[in-house]
Amino acid sequence: MSSPSSEPQYSFATEEEINSFGKHLYKSKRILALCGAGLSAASGIPTFRGSGALWRGHKAAHLSSIEAFEANPGLVWKYMMDGRHLALQAKPNAGHEALAKLAKKKKKGFVCLTQNIDGLSERAKHPRDRLYSLHGSLLDIKCSNCSCDYYDKENLKDPLTPDLTGDDNLASFSSTATSEPTTSLTSQLFSMTIQESKKPVIPTSKLPHCPKCSSVLRPAVVWFGESLSQTMFDEINAWLDAEKRLDLMMVIGTMAEVYPAARFVQLAKDKGARIAVVNLDGGHLGGIQLRKQDWLFEGDAAEILPVLFEGTLEN
Ligand code: APR
Ligand code: ZN
Repeated sequence: MSSPSSEPQYSFATEEEINSFGKHLYKSKRILALCGAGLSAASGIPTFRGSGALWRGHKAAHLSSIEAFEANPGLVWKYMMDGRHLALQAKPNAGHEALAKLAKKKKKGFVCLTQNIDGLSERAKHPRDRLYSLHGSLLDIKCSNCSCDYYDKENLKDPLTPDLTGDDNLASFSSTATSEPTTSLTSQLFSMTIQESKKPVIPTSKLPHCPKCSSVLRPAVVWFGESLSQTMFDEINAWLDAEKRLDLMMVIGTMAEVYPAARFVQLAKDKGARIAVVNLDGGHLGGIQLRKQDWLFEGDAAEILPVLFEGTLEN
């Protein structure tokens, strides 16, 4: 794969780095990937802290909490509906597709963890048994009453109910960072209510309700303040523990700062894995410390992953 001129073929790495990664991927028998918002950026889904994403003037991360939902379910539902709309309008990109193909190629030797809730990896036909959506999915709806088992998988209705529309949806997300001072959650919620007061607030009676127990329904996502599924963890750990070694860990479009992301990177290193980071911004790597044997591919995941996987997918 040599280029005819001496100019590098790609801006994200030298040919030597791409080839050394390609060889390692090809021979790797046990591969773990951890994906984040950067994987879906090329599909038009905004990232979180990376770019200081805002929704109608609120920091996206503040609205993704159980406290916010309990304090103002109508506001959080509206935010979640905008997210659902965005996700359902978006199309999986070449990065999602490359990962799905790699999963089909490497079969049980590859586990992909995603923190994304947009359902785009699923829609790229990533084999379901090789993909763990750590933070759930915006397309799944469950009951807010934790003793009720109502669960509606992959509900593609948009809007979910006539009262949960948002016709200016796509314009309501912005990636402009703010200089908003850090305040307590209560005061943030208070200011949300004030800011939102000009817009019609959805009363709880107009939110979707559980057909089994009549409690308010909610998206089946994991918010700040909630635990990740133990069953999912047990399955991931069983795969990790099945063998002593891990050959490769790919960290794609995530700052790997939110638990348990950072833990997986350390665990992979302890199991002897080489780390490959694919990120638009090499300065946005949170707690990941790269070593001599690791790789940093700096650029858009949708452009880089198909190039990195090419040799393995063709052979
Ligand atoms: N290609 C690759 N990387 C990208 C791209 C791109 N096109 N665009 C942005 N990035 C990088 C950013 O530089 C940043 O390092 O992706 C990372 C996104 O980081 P965050 O916005 O913090 O998103 P993520 O790491 O997925 O957040 C983890 O935190 O807010 C919670 O639950 C939420 O799942 C989310 C979790
Ligand atoms: Zn219920």
